[in-house]
Amino acid sequence: MPLSKTNELNLIMNENAKLTVEHSGGDGWTILHGDMLNLMRSFESGVFDAVITDPPYASGGASQTAKNRTTNQKYSSMSPDKALPDFAGDQKDQRSWTNWCTEWLTEANRVCKPGAVLVVFIDWRMAPCLSDALQRADWIWRGQIVWDKQTCRPQRGRFRQQSEYALWASKGPLPVDRPVGCLPGVFRYTNPANRIHVTEKPLQLMRDVVQICVPGGRILDPFAGAGTTVLASVLEGYEAVGIEVTDAYYKLGSDRVRFALNEATEQKETK
Ligand SMILES: C[S@@+](CC[C@H](N)C(=O)[O-])C[C@H]1O[C@@H](n2cnc3c(N)ncnc32)[C@H](O)[C@@H]1O
Repeated sequence: MPLSKTNELNLIMNENAKLTVEHSGGDGWTILHGDMLNLMRSFESGVFDAVITDPPYASGGASQTAKNRTTNQKYSSMSPDKALPDFAGDQKDQRSWTNWCTEWLTEANRVCKPGAVLVVFIDWRMAPCLSDALQRADWIWRGQIVWDKQTCRPQRGRFRQQSEYALWASKGPLPVDRPVGCLPGVFRYTNPANRIHVTEKPLQLMRDVVQICVPGGRILDPFAGAGTTVLASVLEGYEAVGIEVTDAYYKLGSDRVRFALNEATEQKETK
């Protein structure tokens, strides 16, 4: 059952917004279609235990001209006939990207409970902007984890760009006695095979990362893409709300999560 049909959406969203927003969902998960900043502004305060997300990095080049290319041109080596849909929000310059992040991270802070955790994926080029933005948005910056992608194009005379990162933070103090175990700081997973999103994260990576949330908590991913964080969250026993603005990915992500969770349920039932 979608959150919209339970009391949960009443907890999260104010009345007017709830009526108009396109969304899809199932038991314990919802993906909303629209701009995350507008939608987060319609959320009640203090309703999430974690924000775990992977925003457009607005990266992919040393100059602004290079960064203004499409997401396929920047991040994919697929031939044009096999190209996946491009996604929105990836062509900002560093200054406007930092301001935009400060805005949405401020809103993300408001919708979280005290002690909630923030995890935001990023590359080396934009990490300094992100650390500024999250601290300006009143999060306490706590560290940086490494996603080692292992395979990556070698470049003569240069270090391999083989890792991405996630900066993590908390809303105020983070008690050491939270019921969360000791988690690693480096995660080694190759890029997903047969991906449906240009910059899709490996599902197992996200299943590991969501463990930072208190057990059974509610996780928000304002940049849901192919729904990897939403899917990982539900598979690990959390409740999840995703937001996605690009039409194609709203549809692809919602269908993928629904299909994968139905399959998981069927497998459980046949055991
Ligand atoms: C880096 S991708 C996320 C990929 C995702 N982690 C996955 O594994 O599929 C970022 C996503 O944020 C979406 N996006 C960009 N701007 C947005 C906005 N203002 N509101 C909601 N979604 C947005 C893009 O369409 C894109 O799909």
